This record gives sequence, structure tokens and C-alpha cells, in this order.
Amino acid sequence: MSVNPRKAAIIGCGSVGASIAFRFLQLGLFSQLVLLDANRDKAEGEAMDLSDGLPYGASMEITAGTYDDVADCALVVITAGANQKPGETRLDLIGKNIAILKSILEQITARDFGGILLIVSNPVDVLTYAAWRLTGYPRSRVLGSGTVLDTGRLKQLLGDKLGVDSRNVHAFIIGEHGDSELAVWSGANVSGVDLEDFCRLRGDGLGHKELEELYEQVRDSAYEIIRRKGATYYGIAMAVGRIAQCIVRDEHGVLPVSAVLQGEYGLKGLALSVPAVVDRGGLEEILEIPLSQEERWALTASAHQMEQAIACLDLPGEKK
Ligand SMILES: NC(=O)c1ccc[n+]([C@@H]2O[C@H](COP(=O)([O-])OP(=O)(O)OC[C@H]3O[C@@H](n4cnc5c(N)ncnc54)[C@H](O)[C@@H]3O)[C@@H](O)[C@H]2O)c1
Repeated sequence: MSVNPRKAAIIGCGSVGASIAFRFLQLGLFSQLVLLDANRDKAEGEAMDLSDGLPYGASMEITAGTYDDVADCALVVITAGANQKPGETRLDLIGKNIAILKSILEQITARDFGGILLIVSNPVDVLTYAAWRLTGYPRSRVLGSGTVLDTGRLKQLLGDKLGVDSRNVHAFIIGEHGDSELAVWSGANVSGVDLEDFCRLRGDGLGHKELEELYEQVRDSAYEIIRRKGATYYGIAMAVGRIAQCIVRDEHGVLPVSAVLQGEYGLKGLALSVPAVVDRGGLEEILEIPLSQEERWALTASAHQMEQAIACLDLPGEKK
């Protein structure tokens, strides 16, 4: 079936799915947005509520739909599944969410779907890899939101600390979107000025201890938000909006999405969040950015965590 470049679907209309739908409405990226949820009333209610905002936003059609409506979408965002409860890790969700993912992908692969799958449900890297294996689609068409959110958190905290606009801060969180993620300090810069030099310019140093504290704040951010309000959804909605922009507008944006690795960084048989060029076709290329020896070790350790989680899944063989 031919792909409608202005049509998207969101599967799972809980806090995250509904927030992403709201972000899509604000961005005016699509002409048609289809919402699906195991609870049909929820999808219908969200479509009705969002549609009320159309006169003050973009021109688009927002409906609660079925899997037949998903077949010609350019982008399908999957947010269905359990979220973390206070104290739970993302990897703790694997049992529940792999079953949900499988049931959704059975429906999608039964149709002639030619668009891009963007996995948001957690543990996002494990589910992205599973989605690639379960669908047999090329890896370019199966992405996870990865550490785009975490990278935004790092930029925001660093910007605050340095007293500059977070949009001028360039630094990546890579690895698992979860407890084993790492900050790539070696490449961090502010508008092209190396982080250390920039701190000197501002007359303010950031020592190893402060950097470590910033990293811990990023890594533990979801736990802190969930402890206070029960779930996280606005930050991820902004992050997914940015990924969708890169896809719909063919922007070739560089984002740390979760992607299936096939030898990059010496890793394969898993998906991990690393900087990549994202365009109309999804994943254009994974970028192997320079890493310090310490960062390389941390990335390998994060990859081992993913491999262990994947080993527990019952997945079909890799397509040659
Ligand atoms: N990747 C990220 O950065 C990130 C950030 C925040 C949350 N998340 C994840 O997003 C997921 C959703 O979180 P939430 O807070 O919206 O949860 P939620 O409980 O509010 O919503 C989940 C929704 O999924 C629906 N659902 C369940 N099974 C389904 C199925 N088979 N088909 C269609 N819909 C189904 C439920 O009815 C519910 O409406 C969680 O896994 C959470 O951990 C990811």
C-alpha cells in the first residue's frame, strides 16, 4: 500500500500517547492522525478532546481508528503498555510490554504497512530490537525514541548550570534509555566551543564531581518525576515531536534514537541509543562519534545489559 506522508497513528492513548498527539497537533505536521487504544473509549475521547482544539491549531483530522487505518501511515508511534511505578526500573516492564508489542505488531504486519515504526514504550531499546526482529522490516524503518529525551534533559540542566540557552548546548546521552546510559562529555560543547573552554569563558569551572552529579540527575530524572506525579509525558512528547519533524520534513536531523546496531561501535544483535541521521526514510545512518576510552567501556557495559534482556525474549530468527 502506498504511504500517505501526512498521516500518522499513535497506538496507546495513555498519558504519553495523548501528550504526543497534542504535540503533533501543535506542530501541524500531519493532515490525518489516527488514535488506537485497547480501551476504545479512551481513543475516542482523546480524539474528541484534541479535535476541539483544531480551530486554534492546524488543519487536520483526528479520529479513533482501527488497524486498517494504520496501513497507509507514514509514521506509527507505539506507546501502548505499562509504565513504571515508583521504584520500578524500565527493564522491569519487559514481560508485560513485550506481550503487548507482539499483539500490536501482529496486526500491523498483517497489513501492507510501508511506513516507519517509532517505539516509545519501555524498555524502549529492548522493544525496538524486538520490533525489528518480529516485523522483519529493514532497520531503517524501526526506530525507538531512545535517549532523545535524556539528551534534552542533559542540555537543559547544562544550560541552566552555565546560564545559556539549552538549545546552544550540544551533548549526548547514549546507550540504554535507562539506568546504564552514559553522558558523552568528551564531545560536549556550547555552540561549537568545547565545554571546558566554555566554562573558562564564563569564569566558572565544572569539575568531575559536578559533571557526575549532572549525569545522575539526568539518569534518575524519570524516577524523581514519577515519585512526585506518577508518570512522565510532556518531555517525551516534545522529544517524539522532534523525531517526527525530522521524518516528515526529511530534515536529516542528528538525534540519539534507538537503532538496531549491525557492527557500529563493535556491537550487534541489539538496539541502543546512539547519534544517527534521521530523515524521511527513518534511520539514514548511524554515526560513530569519537568516544573516550571510559565512554567506550560504559557503552559496552550498557550493551551487555541490553543483550541480557534480549536473551530472555522468544524472538524469531534474524532475516538474512
Ligand atoms: N521512551 C521514553 O522516553 C518514555 C517516556 C515516558 C514513558 N514511556 C513509556 O511509555 C509507555 C506508556 O506510558 P503511559 O504513561 O502513557 O502509560 P498509560 O498507562 O497512561 O497508557 C498506556 C495505554 O496503553 C494502552 N494499551 C495497553 N495495551 C494495549 C494494546 N494492546 N493496544 C493498544 N493500547 C494498549 C492502555 O489502554 C493505556 O491507555 C510506558 O511503557 C512508559 O514506560 C517511555
